[in-house]
Amino acid sequence: MLLGVNIDHIATLRNARGGLEPNLMQAAQICEKAGADGITVHLREDRRHTRDNDVTELKNILKTRLNLEMALTDEMQKIALKTLPENICLVPEKRQEVTTEGGLDVASRIEFVSDFVRPLTNAGIVVSLFIDADENQVKAAAETGAQFIELHTGRYSEAYGTENEEFEMQNLKTAASLAAKLGLKVNAGHGLTYENVHRMKEIPELIELNIGHNIIARAVFDGLEYAVKSMKELIQ
Ligand code: PXP
Repeated sequence: MLLGVNIDHIATLRNARGGLEPNLMQAAQICEKAGADGITVHLREDRRHTRDNDVTELKNILKTRLNLEMALTDEMQKIALKTLPENICLVPEKRQEVTTEGGLDVASRIEFVSDFVRPLTNAGIVVSLFIDADENQVKAAAETGAQFIELHTGRYSEAYGTENEEFEMQNLKTAASLAAKLGLKVNAGHGLTYENVHRMKEIPELIELNIGHNIIARAVFDGLEYAVKSMKELIQ
């Protein structure tokens, strides 16, 4: 299975001080060096983490693939067609949300989504739709011309370790299998952690997982001891 690393929260930390550190390009290069198969960023309408010039710079320096998560707006479509990331993942976006809540509703607007996807695929971009593990959404996604879906694993992640875990796991399995039958390729992501990720291996259709927050959170603790020791040495 491939791993796409979402580095949005490196940008969150950088923006907290308004400067350039931690450097987003350096973060992307470390992820690639460590084996990431792609780098994901979500260019949100409010630019709360990644910014337009980050997307352009990443496209120029990445050796793997840039996966741009974005909403279905004219502004984002223009940016995508100018930047030409290798992959795009279309996501729903609400201004006030902390992170992407729920999948895209494709079923109620197949024509709109198809019209949005067409210029992107015509430009050679591989497009994925971020949807819930729901039969109707999978069927609708298969009609849009998008090559991939990304199954929202948020519900599974929340249910992990509870009595609902099996139910959510089964929904993911059923959705992935239906998608493959309909000719879609399948990725998954959201809320995956070092603890709950192992069950994704039970879904044979999965090609790539997109994981962000938990990797960046782990990186803080994996690096904190060394960072403190380095500073102590300097002031001794
Ligand atoms: N996939 C999509 C479509 C997302 O919007 C996000 C969050 O930005 C992720 C994957 C990664 O989720 P997390 O940060 O919880 O690993």
